[in-house]
Amino acid sequence: MVKTTISLLKADIGSSPGHVTVYEPLMVRAEELMEKAKDENVILDFVVFNAGDDTELLLSHNKGVDNEAIHKLAWDTFMTLGKEAREIGLYGAGQDLLKDAFTGNIKGMGPGCAEFEFEERPAEPLLVFAMDKTEPGAFNYPIFQMFANPFNTAGLIIDPKLHEGFTFSVMDVYKNKFVDLSCPEQMYDLLALIGAPGKYVVKYVDSKTPDLGRAAAISTDKLSLIAGKYIGKDDPVAVIRSQSGFPAVGEIVEAFTLGHLVSGWMRGSHRGPLMPVSLEYSQCVRFDGPPRVVGLGFQLKNGIFIGGVDLFDDPSFDSTRARVNEITEYIRRHGPFEPGRLPLSEMEYTTLPNVLQKLEDKFHD
Ligand code: F6R
Ligand code: MG
Ligand code: MG
Repeated sequence: MVKTTISLLKADIGSSPGHVTVYEPLMVRAEELMEKAKDENVILDFVVFNAGDDTELLLSHNKGVDNEAIHKLAWDTFMTLGKEAREIGLYGAGQDLLKDAFTGNIKGMGPGCAEFEFEERPAEPLLVFAMDKTEPGAFNYPIFQMFANPFNTAGLIIDPKLHEGFTFSVMDVYKNKFVDLSCPEQMYDLLALIGAPGKYVVKYVDSKTPDLGRAAAISTDKLSLIAGKYIGKDDPVAVIRSQSGFPAVGEIVEAFTLGHLVSGWMRGSHRGPLMPVSLEYSQCVRFDGPPRVVGLGFQLKNGIFIGGVDLFDDPSFDSTRARVNEITEYIRRHGPFEPGRLPLSEMEYTTLPNVLQKLEDKFHD
């Protein structure tokens, strides 16, 4: 049976005003370019959307992961959009496009990517999430909730297909190494790692029930580690399969109802609560935030995205949003003090070291 590949690729190609949101005409431009790629049979289907100042290309195809044609399509699209953003005068035009020439794979070039392939079930619910003003590890908490915490996901207890548990593939983003941990048996080991989301990031989740396969993929690309300095935050994305052996749609979105604290707000240097929002509010304004997550849900059939739903466009998330606003008030009162601001160890790739350098020879005994 032919497998379907889902590739979610993203880049900040420029925004308006400042780092608030993607400029609407450039999203239309991205759609035109994807329509052309669909006509030329490079992709089966696509959805273009934004998470704050990041342009997101959700693509389906049969070409497998790390496919050169798909990655080149995304790279060329981001380059075209970046060039047009520069001409229009958008802010930070092309900021995530760190290399000049495409070399076969978009990884390590600046844009983020989450992708995996699977055999479509007769009915295949698929959810995608995209965050702005935060880092890849911001997905650790909700992914753990969805796939390992029975207080979030009732199916882990009740449904024999979920009861076996899931395997988490965790990446050390500094060493570029992976460790696979099986839950529930290795849950404490898993938490020992992913509780430090700046270093350990969940990359994949796989079902332990035979034949179900991969459940989720998350982007782990760290701009600062590619460029060696602060460029912008990494603003991660995730692709997640749902139902019939995977967490239900409602169990997946439930994982975002805490408004958990994440790193990367304002100048990539602050902590803040993550607010789940509809696409209408996918724009980061207050103190360039607060950090946000948007979610879209589809039925996937032969690679076609059917019946798209804006998952957080629902009053049942109002109480989370109200709590996020309350925490925002509180945490912002800390101004430049930790833990509102990130600890020094995490400020290494920001602009702060330049300021501290000037003081270095002024210290006396
Ligand atoms: C960008 C971001 C913003 C910027 C801030 C300063 O993703 O997180 O908070 O870091 O607006 O931007 P510059 O240095 O471009 O003036
Ligand atoms: Mg920007
Ligand atoms: Mg962004």
